[in-house]
Amino acid sequence: MQHKEAVKRSLAGVKKKIGVYSAKGGVGKTTTAVNLAYALAAKGLKVGLLDADIDCPNLPMFIGATEKMGAAELPLKPVLKDGIKVASTAMLVDDRRAPIIWRGPIIVKMLYDFFENTEWGELDFLIIDLPPGTSDAPLTIMQVLGLDGFVVVTTGQRIAAVNTIKSGLMAKMLSVPVLGVIGNMVELPNANVEMVAKELGTEVIGIVPYEKKLADYADAGEVPVRNEKEFAALYASIANKLLSL
Ligand SMILES: Nc1ncnc2c1ncn2[C@@H]1O[C@H](COP(=O)(O)OP(=O)(O)O)[C@@H](O)[C@H]1O
Ligand SMILES: [Mg+2]
Repeated sequence: MQHKEAVKRSLAGVKKKIGVYSAKGGVGKTTTAVNLAYALAAKGLKVGLLDADIDCPNLPMFIGATEKMGAAELPLKPVLKDGIKVASTAMLVDDRRAPIIWRGPIIVKMLYDFFENTEWGELDFLIIDLPPGTSDAPLTIMQVLGLDGFVVVTTGQRIAAVNTIKSGLMAKMLSVPVLGVIGNMVELPNANVEMVAKELGTEVIGIVPYEKKLADYADAGEVPVRNEKEFAALYASIANKLLSL
């Protein structure tokens, strides 16, 4: 409760907080969070991007951000990259190649610092890239952040769909709305993506095909939306759907 109030105060300047989530790893959460954030920023909106994958923070690699946040004193200051405010534990550690081996309570403490002790300022959107799973970190985010909702990401595989449904059900149990489903690495038509939307009582707001270039851009630290009209248009249409909800 105490945290909830502190988070509310700290994020008072943030108009919308949207989580990108699935309990399944490797489905494209970070890809979606990054490209959606850049698509919203391309519309002239003020955007923040929080890497909530505390122990395996790879969001900065996707955007080629090598800057550090400077952890000497609180509040933490997000790194400004391409006009977007970005925070990640990768921007706090000395050696980004070393594994971060933290137990749950430390991970949760770090999340609180990102919510309560980070200078996000005035934002139209804060996009939060979640880790997989349904335990500590997602649970804390759902309980204290006061999210406007989740976008859930699934591939067309049944295993991914089943796990993504679990994520959505968890969100709903904790009273966080599921705003829509994004099918990633998917060719149409796809019954499993439709099943996720149906089970969660929401709609499919985007289909992103498997495109090797998307992975190549990520490896190069380049954002597809900034580099190719086709990707810019694709994620702009998803951003529009989100804005219209
Ligand atoms: N639509 C796509 N086409 C091709 N590669 C993709 C696509 N979406 C994601 N990838 C790649 O798949 C891998 C997993 O994606 P990522 O966004 O890291 O997933 P998650 O955050 O859910 O673990 C990454 O290497 C990423 O570059
Ligand atoms: Mg990820």
